[in-house]
Order: sequence, then C-alpha cells, then structure tokens
Amino acid sequence: MASTLRTRRQHWYEHWADQRNPQHAKETEDAYQDLAGELRNLFAAHRADRVLEIGCGDGALFDLLGFNQASRYLGVDFSQAMLDQFRARFPRTDLRTADASRFRTDERFDLIFSSHVAQYWDRGQMARHLDHAAAMLAPDGLIVIAGIPWSRMRLAYGRGDLTGGDLTGGRRRSLPGALASAVRELVAPDIGHWYDLPEVTRLAAARGMRANFRGSGHYPYRFHALFQRTR
Ligand SMILES: C[S@@+](CC[C@H](N)C(=O)[O-])C[C@H]1O[C@@H](n2cnc3c(N)ncnc32)[C@H](O)[C@@H]1O
Repeated sequence: MASTLRTRRQHWYEHWADQRNPQHAKETEDAYQDLAGELRNLFAAHRADRVLEIGCGDGALFDLLGFNQASRYLGVDFSQAMLDQFRARFPRTDLRTADASRFRTDERFDLIFSSHVAQYWDRGQMARHLDHAAAMLAPDGLIVIAGIPWSRMRLAYGRGDLTGGDLTGGRRRSLPGALASAVRELVAPDIGHWYDLPEVTRLAAARGMRANFRGSGHYPYRFHALFQRTR
C-alpha cells in the first residue's frame, strides 16, 4: 500500500516536472476568463491582502484572479518548469519550489488558495495540506480548495454524460466503453483522486473549521471547498 502511494505520488511529480502549462480542458483567453470569473467569486466577499497560492502553476490565472493586487503574494509549486513560465511572465513574484502538501511557513495569510491541484493529492496529502493551511491561516482567513473532482460524478464523467461543452470527457460512451475508461483511470490515472463532500466536511471539523461547498460550472464534475475557522 505504502509503495503504491509512493509510486502514485512519484507519477504526478514526474508528470508535472516537464509541463509548461496547466493543461486545462481549453487554454484560450475566453476559457481562462470564464474559469477565473468563477474562481474569483469564491473569495469575492473576503479580504485577500496576503495570499498564498498552492500549486500556482505557470501564473496563467495570476492577474485574472486579482492576485497582482495583493499586498503579499506567495506562490508554491513543485514543478520548476511551471514556475519558470510564471517567472518569465511576472519576474518580481515570490515563488517557491516545494511539495504543497508539505509546505509551511511562519507567515500568516488571509487567503490560502489552490485551483485544480487537490486531484493530485491522496487522502494523506490532503489531510497534511489542511493541517499546514490551518496553521498558516490568519484569524479571519479563508482556505479555498477549488476544482476538486467529485466522486459522485465519476461515472457520469466516465460515460461522457456531461458533454455538451468540450470540457468534460468527450463523446458519450457505451457501458463497456465507460467501464474501460474507469479501468484505465485506475491503472493510469488521468484525473487523479476524487473526493466527496462528507469526507471534506469531516477533514474540516477535525481541524476546528467548517467547510462550505460550491459546484463548478466550468467543470461540472468538480466542486469547490471553502474552509473557515469555527473557533
Ligand atoms: C492543473 S495545474 C493548475 C495550475 C493553476 N492552479 C491553475 O488552476 O491554472 C496543477 C498544478 O499543480 C502543481 N502540483 C500538483 N501537485 C503538486 C504538489 N503536490 N505540490 C506542489 N505543486 C503541485 C502542478 O505542478 C501544476 O502546476
């Protein structure tokens, strides 16, 4: 079990080591605007002066999310290649190369944000990230983990039921085709780890936080989780 986990973690590390863009379903200006609009809404009612972005990637969303306005921004990603792209675009940004599920500093942040990263974390990494994020959160701070693949939508995704746009899994598949796709996903994962709302609620409660959820319109098989302290 432990060696399977290590192999899976290594798989994602190696996958991202060579990437130079975030591999969103559509990487056009319109698609980025649409996604960023949805993500901005998650923290619009919140003060976001000091921002920590986990899995910040190549910076494609940096100014679209308004993070260029933050008084303090720190981006963390384990892919040097992705951070090189970010630095080329925004040379004065503070970026660190680190495994996000282990990253911790003594600084405090109003917003600890990640988008489309949680799918690369197994349960242990998700729990550890939340431990660290809770410790780095300012008293009224907000943790946003956006774009978490929703396990209840897994079959619909695999069958291509969510098509209609071009963001979600291509053509509708026959049942054998859907099963073949599910098996492929287990052997050579494309999406990664899928989560459900009750387990995220429990993870939050165990750390003295409450979790709220929003569905994703951009990717209908994903949800966003927002965490705040209850005490
Ligand atoms: C799909 S991209 C998303 C990038 C950006 N957040 C966005 O929404 O456009 C995933 C990013 O997470 C990073 N990543 C994945 N797992 C990570 C981990 N354990 N620690 C740090 N970065 C990670 C990858 O290197 C990649 O840059």
